[in-house]
Amino acid sequence: MNSEAQKNRQTTPQFGRSSNNMNNNHSQDLHPRYQCPQCKEPLTVNQQGFSCANRHQFDRAKEGYVNLLPVQNKGSKIPGDSPEMVISRRDFLATNAYGFLQQAVAVTLKNQLGNAATIIDAGCGEGYYTKALAEQLPEGQVYGVDIAKTAVRYAAKRSKSNKALHFCVASNINLPFADNFADLICKIFAPVEVKEIGRVLKPNGIFMTVVPGPKHLFELKQVIYELPKEHEPEVCPDGFELVNTQPLTQTQVLNKAIDIANLCQMTPFAWKLAEQKKQQLIEAGEMPVTFDFVVNVYRLVQNEQAD
Ligand SMILES: C[S@@+](CC[C@H](N)C(=O)[O-])C[C@H]1O[C@@H](n2cnc3c(N)ncnc32)[C@H](O)[C@@H]1O
Ligand SMILES: [Zn+2]
Repeated sequence: MNSEAQKNRQTTPQFGRSSNNMNNNHSQDLHPRYQCPQCKEPLTVNQQGFSCANRHQFDRAKEGYVNLLPVQNKGSKIPGDSPEMVISRRDFLATNAYGFLQQAVAVTLKNQLGNAATIIDAGCGEGYYTKALAEQLPEGQVYGVDIAKTAVRYAAKRSKSNKALHFCVASNINLPFADNFADLICKIFAPVEVKEIGRVLKPNGIFMTVVPGPKHLFELKQVIYELPKEHEPEVCPDGFELVNTQPLTQTQVLNKAIDIANLCQMTPFAWKLAEQKKQQLIEAGEMPVTFDFVVNVYRLVQNEQAD
């Protein structure tokens, strides 16, 4: 962490304790507060799901999530990660190989916020981190958003009993929330639009990202590329300032063929791995893999010249 980040870290407001940003109603009202993706009016809860003043209706699925992705914004028939990728990631994460990251993300969140806060996990996948975040904030409201319906279905299913944890199918490019809604938005290996994050965050809100560190999955890359490259550090997004950056690295030996296969299937460069090489890796039965992550914390900087 550079000295600027160190300084910023010390001045980070603790949302939910004394900040004006806190919304105190959370512990009483556990209904999710979405915005209509069609007309931007607030959605209210009804028997089937949600509707707005203009009678746009969005039904709740039996798993508890709501689909707020207008058909015209889908982009493709199955947007986001394919069901195969989703299943591989869910099964791989279930081994707890990324447990150290899940824990670090939850601790970082706790350090940034008080109990009663509103947070969004943008591109939440199967909710592996979302669930852990919600457990850290028993009085908060936690939203998981993902464009892939299969992922959201799993996420909602695994967290059905937590009434303060809400999942929806929607795009990070058009988040179904009002302006100045969230105390913290996190994005864990997911694509977002920084302007949209800035719109939905409260003034001084926190943007937490998890990105691959330089050596992430380097052993796998060495199998695929002749000259594997290290990941570049993330650039501080426009309109934000860096509060803290935390590298996290572990090398683990994967010794089950199924875990190696799932890891190959869930990584973004999986499709570059020739079937023959994939089989070789799987049949070798043992593979050391470096898991290298960086957790960055940014604060939304108020534009003094705005308005
Ligand atoms: C690499 S996965 C990470 C999932 C989860 N955060 C995790 O780490 O387990 C990226 C996720 O972003 C989702 N995604 C891709 N484009 C998106 C978009 N425009 N809006 C919301 N989610 C999106 C994918 O469907 C996928 O679940
Ligand atoms: Zn509407």
